[in-house]
Amino acid sequence: MAVGGVVVPSGNYEGKVTPFVVVTCLVAATGGLIFGYDIGISGGVTSMDEFLEKFFPSVYAKQKDASGHESQYCKFENHLLTLFTSSLYLAALIASFFASATTKKFGRKTSMTVGGVVFLIGAVLNGAAMNVEMLIIGRLLLGVGIGYANQSVPVYLSEMAPAKLRGALNIGFQMATTLGIFGANLVNYGTSKMKENGWRVSLALAAAPALIMTIGAIFLPDTPNSMIERGQKEKAREMLQKIRGTDNVDAEFSDLLEASEASQRVEQPLKKILERQYRPQLVITSLIPMFQQLTGINVIMFYAPVLFKTLGFGNDAALMSAVVTGLVNVFATFVSIFTVDKFGRRALFLEGGAQMIICQISVGVLIYKVFGVAGEGAFTPALGNLALALICIYVAAFAWSWGPLGWLVPSEIHPLETRSAGQSINVSVNMFFTFIIGQLFLSALCHLKFGLFFFFAGWVVLMTTFVYLFVPETKNMPIEEMNRVWKAHWFWGAYIPDDAVGLQHHAANQLVSTSLTQELLLNVLMSTLFGLGDEAWKDREAAVLVCHRRGCINGLYPHLPEWW
Ligand code: BGC
Repeated sequence: MAVGGVVVPSGNYEGKVTPFVVVTCLVAATGGLIFGYDIGISGGVTSMDEFLEKFFPSVYAKQKDASGHESQYCKFENHLLTLFTSSLYLAALIASFFASATTKKFGRKTSMTVGGVVFLIGAVLNGAAMNVEMLIIGRLLLGVGIGYANQSVPVYLSEMAPAKLRGALNIGFQMATTLGIFGANLVNYGTSKMKENGWRVSLALAAAPALIMTIGAIFLPDTPNSMIERGQKEKAREMLQKIRGTDNVDAEFSDLLEASEASQRVEQPLKKILERQYRPQLVITSLIPMFQQLTGINVIMFYAPVLFKTLGFGNDAALMSAVVTGLVNVFATFVSIFTVDKFGRRALFLEGGAQMIICQISVGVLIYKVFGVAGEGAFTPALGNLALALICIYVAAFAWSWGPLGWLVPSEIHPLETRSAGQSINVSVNMFFTFIIGQLFLSALCHLKFGLFFFFAGWVVLMTTFVYLFVPETKNMPIEEMNRVWKAHWFWGAYIPDDAVGLQHHAANQLVSTSLTQELLLNVLMSTLFGLGDEAWKDREAAVLVCHRRGCINGLYPHLPEWW
């Protein structure tokens, strides 16, 4: 069965990677900073005694209970405490739908600015919190800011970037997220040493990334796609010329116009996306963010200090371990930046998935060996370090696969007419499952115990299989020509009407639907048996735009035996 379509894009748009586009994308990516800062800050704050004593006295008492009756697995179980972490994501979920309308009507830049300002107010409220209510209202405002930023920034990046660098530039967002998490880990480590109000400083410092993003957004230009969408064609052409560094942007510009006209005809994008021809995008946009959260990554990102305390680390060591995982997260993200447009999305997804499964099973077994079912026992320093190492390898795998790709893939697979709506679905599903994990993890740990790690491993098996079968390769494919990828896919092809693949202004469309390994194998076979090498493969004009693997291969290589 051919599963991963390899599509050779025409890639004929003229232009280079200009410093302007790089700087613009870097500034926009700082939107990820606010997202990351929040992810990283709450775990540390919720493990600070002063914070717990003030806002969550019952958790504090339970944690201090030296009677030894409390299971290690249940030390931190408290629904109000988890609500502090997770309420933000609920607000983000709802806000992303408003953000979608704003992004479409007023442009990507406006959404980013709104996000930054609301987030700033939330940070101030949090830093000044006198009671749980203020704390949670502040978190909700932070959530609204994040809903806006996460809706607009990935789309902005995908639209600004030239196709061949889209993956790398888009991952700038994830990079900024990991830097935000790491920054928060460091801040927590520092403020935990303060005699009092350390938690206030941690929470209030969220204003710093928000300021960077807001000021950045004010100076950013909007994307050509968004200008066209709002009727500013001439400005859009000039912007395109500027970001591509050439006057000859005709091909790309007319694709953008065509895509925009198609999208203007759509009155209700959220209804539109339910139509059969958008089924692949709808399914993938809904499942990828869900799967991303079901990797269990936020168990580590939110609760690393709590988790490491559960594993017997002292206060300091627990916060330090969070700094270590944060650092691994940042460095491993670089791997994806340098490989995503080269090896492609699928390779990273599949390798990362396998690596995560191995680590999760190992951590589950390790915790079982030490705590058993009853949750009584203690990690020796050596075993604690082993757990930390395994968790780092797991975080690295996530950081070069599901982390960045969870945002990149859904943002690049939509035609313009469903792009904003698609991104809202992506953000809201992501936020919904982030909320669920944030809310349920401490209880789940208390009830599923070490089995929790097997639970997540099971999900990673499922999602890796899903990617293998249903997620086509999208590297190097111009964003407005993405329908060709779907049309060529063994399963999704049937959903795409022929006229949806109508944006080819370029002569040679070579579409081959076959898996990477099959393609390689085929090329080796061809060159040895029939003297047809890679070049011959590329030179052959594929008269058929869309073909299934078998039809295609038989058409190109008539000598192939029937059974192939
Ligand atoms: C995810 C977050 C996660 C972060 C870790 C992001 O892609 O959406 O939920 O905490 O990666 O780096």
